[in-house]
Amino acid sequence: MVDARHGRGGGAGPAGRARAAWTRAAGVAGGGQCPSEGGAAVVTSIARQTERQLGGPRSVLVRQQRDHQELDRLVHAIDAAEGDERLDLLTDLARLVFPHAFAEESVLWPAIRRVLPEGEQLTLQIEQEHQEINELWSELEQTTPGDGRHEELWPRIVELLREDVRDEEDELLPRLQEKLGRRGLVQLGLSWEVVRRIAPTRPHPVVARRPPGNVAAALPMTVLDRSRDLLDRTARTRDGRVAQLAGGLSRAAAGVAGRLEHVPPLTEGEDPSTHSGRSDRT
Ligand SMILES: [Fe+2]
Ligand SMILES: [Fe+2]
Repeated sequence: MVDARHGRGGGAGPAGRARAAWTRAAGVAGGGQCPSEGGAAVVTSIARQTERQLGGPRSVLVRQQRDHQELDRLVHAIDAAEGDERLDLLTDLARLVFPHAFAEESVLWPAIRRVLPEGEQLTLQIEQEHQEINELWSELEQTTPGDGRHEELWPRIVELLREDVRDEEDELLPRLQEKLGRRGLVQLGLSWEVVRRIAPTRPHPVVARRPPGNVAAALPMTVLDRSRDLLDRTARTRDGRVAQLAGGLSRAAAGVAGRLEHVPPLTEGEDPSTHSGRSDRT
């Protein structure tokens, strides 16, 4: 299941290369610990803190933790499912993961870059992980459960998702916690949640991972993605002409999304290391 290219700490891809730079920039000794001036470990993973310690139920840290737990539950459910049930669960996971990541990239990471001196390097690492997930999931959408390519892509995506959660919970978010009080964590939680609820639900590897591109993409991609979610489910659950019509409309919407992704300003603001010229939608 483990692909060495994406392995934690040893990856040779963009995310793996960035990890070494991140470790140097942030002084990370490993295991989510950071030496303070006196040499003591000061960073505690948000996975090991109570809701109260994380700033209460509306804090961005608690909201992140909740989504990450749901992600884990869905991954296990997908591994145990087959056929249409597996496709429905994959849609559920995409609806969780992509709005979550989109809101991180457009609201959370810019805030982190403002308050953490090492924020640029820390968030770039995460954006590279997100980019790889976007690219692999775009490819996964062209496959069906049970075929060879699907079985190859899925474990790689799961590994990257888990790596992304660990980087956020063990390293990035505890550093944000050190900088913001409870009030700041709640305010950030509210803005992250608003964007998360209206964000695109599908991978968009060509759209910039940073503002202004991703912010400009939010409205058109959200409308197209959520319409396609509905049409795809209709195509799977209805028969005859209705299913045919829904499938055709979904493919047309995918074509529009694929062309629109390349239009500036949707591609502006990108760091070169997360740039992709790909758009596999047809
Ligand atoms: Fe997250
Ligand atoms: Fe993430």
